[in-house]
Amino acid sequence: MEQIELRQDIGFGRVEELPQADQELVRMSIAATDNAYAKYSEFRVGAALRLKDGTTLIGANQENASYPAGLCAERAAIFAAQSQYPDQPIVTIAIAARNVKGLLAKPVTPCGICRQVMLEIEQRYHTPIRILLYGTQGVYVINGVETLLPLSFIGEDLK
Ligand code: THU
Repeated sequence: MEQIELRQDIGFGRVEELPQADQELVRMSIAATDNAYAKYSEFRVGAALRLKDGTTLIGANQENASYPAGLCAERAAIFAAQSQYPDQPIVTIAIAARNVKGLLAKPVTPCGICRQVMLEIEQRYHTPIRILLYGTQGVYVINGVETLLPLSFIGEDLK
């Protein structure tokens, strides 16, 4: 059988190596972890995103006693952006997380549902989203959601 190679190239570096605008977003995502309501998991996630016009927004995960009712930080931020600025593409999103021991050392990686949501936002605006995943050891820099979600399911398949 033929083997198909799937390759992803991502950047990894220190926060200080990023452009100022990205550094600011990373700092905002770290600060946003304070706004998490993570009573059940104690895993606090912060997301900060920048729209094409430069507007920035944050989100934090919100949990509930009925566990599936909770929402991830990424989608909290993305849906807030879509609700308030439906004409604005999202150009960059930064994500940070901490558990009871503190900020994660390895960069936090978004869950599958959030990847799927980000993918559709890219397609909606025909604009790739730059993704900054923060860890105290460094930041992954990912240019486009497809890198995080190969072989993805897209709405076009429904037609
Ligand atoms: N969580 C996020 O906010 N983003 C992710 O990408 C992964 C998980 C939240 C959901 C839940 O409140 C907690 O982290 C533990 O899963």
